[in-house]
Amino acid sequence: MKVLDTDFARDFIRMCNDGWSFGWHEANGGNASYRMRQAEVNEVKSGFRIRSWERIDTEVPTLAGECFLITASGSHFRNIAHDPKRTLGIIEVDRTGTAWRPCWGFKDGGRPTSELVAHLINHEVRKAATKGASRVIYHAHPANIAAMTCVMPADPAVFTRTLWAQLAECAMVIPHGVELIPWEVPGSLGLAIESAKAMEHTNAVIWPHHGLFVSGDTLDEAFGIMQTVDKAAEIYLKARACGTANTSSISNDDLSAFSREYDLGLSRRNLHAEPLLDLPVRVIERVERVQETAPAETSKPQAGAPSSEVLASMPWTFSFPAASAQPVELAEAMPASAQSADTVVAQPVQPMEAAPMQPVQSARPAVQPATQPTAQSAEPVYRFGMRLR
Ligand code: 13P
Ligand code: ZN
Repeated sequence: MKVLDTDFARDFIRMCNDGWSFGWHEANGGNASYRMRQAEVNEVKSGFRIRSWERIDTEVPTLAGECFLITASGSHFRNIAHDPKRTLGIIEVDRTGTAWRPCWGFKDGGRPTSELVAHLINHEVRKAATKGASRVIYHAHPANIAAMTCVMPADPAVFTRTLWAQLAECAMVIPHGVELIPWEVPGSLGLAIESAKAMEHTNAVIWPHHGLFVSGDTLDEAFGIMQTVDKAAEIYLKARACGTANTSSISNDDLSAFSREYDLGLSRRNLHAEPLLDLPVRVIERVERVQETAPAETSKPQAGAPSSEVLASMPWTFSFPAASAQPVELAEAMPASAQSADTVVAQPVQPMEAAPMQPVQSARPAVQPATQPTAQSAEPVYRFGMRLR
């Protein structure tokens, strides 16, 4: 079967085109990838035109042998439906997870998105976090989200609680909330790694003054998250533009009831963060206050990264090993007692899939270990294959 006759390719192109129609993809802004099922690869591989292997700037061993439909770097989303063989391509990851090669598309010498490493690392993280269900990574530039990052304190809990306060079902679509990473250069390894750390506990990561990076089991799910977060941000900005404080919003009690009814497991750190709904003058005061009370740089490696208290409240924590050649162990899931202390409706934290992990032997920059969530919890360990050269 031809690639463009398959359901997955048609659905992928439709998602890209819908994103363009929503105004999320100016010029070449945004990128997307879909991790193909083996049956889908078998269906189309007779039409592959294989080119030579190229190194990946990291290792993704749990994606070894997998194929991805992915946008080409520099392609304009408005052109994808009209010229898919030029604006899209299929790549295959090699058996060691250290190289990729083009198999289809990328007409006239195109290459995968400049965010290829971010896509691959985050596919690896989300594949493990969802026991193989996650297949889509989607990055777009919705203006409402970028605008919100101009006026919100760099605090993911305040950001999340403010978004949840706007739209009844926002908490249902992003029950783990959004994470917020520091500004990073587009296409950089730093952006890929910061996103992957955030993607360990959520599937929606805000790139300040840039856009949103989401994952989903399906194209519909990824698109739905993008649209819902953008819509909540739009409602927030419209209400702010009135120049008055909110007279009403979704309360903590409302959200708690919602969480119980639908078993959402909304975390306390997001639920009890105060949404930013004040008069504009108070908003400025609040942002300044949050910035002043932020821990010093030494105890908080990255501006905008979750604080140690926030990390302690997360369902699981990770830390990167220092630059030693110690083998990585799989982390234990947090004890049930620690989980139930953190959630409105306790949800079991699934242990990570025992993916074929390789020992980390890298000169990766050391990152401060996350604070231990409780005395009972296991030593935090890093569990995914982000090995840098
Ligand atoms: P690409 O055209 O390389 O995908 O880059 C677009 C983008 O949005 C980078 O963040
Ligand atoms: Zn971008």
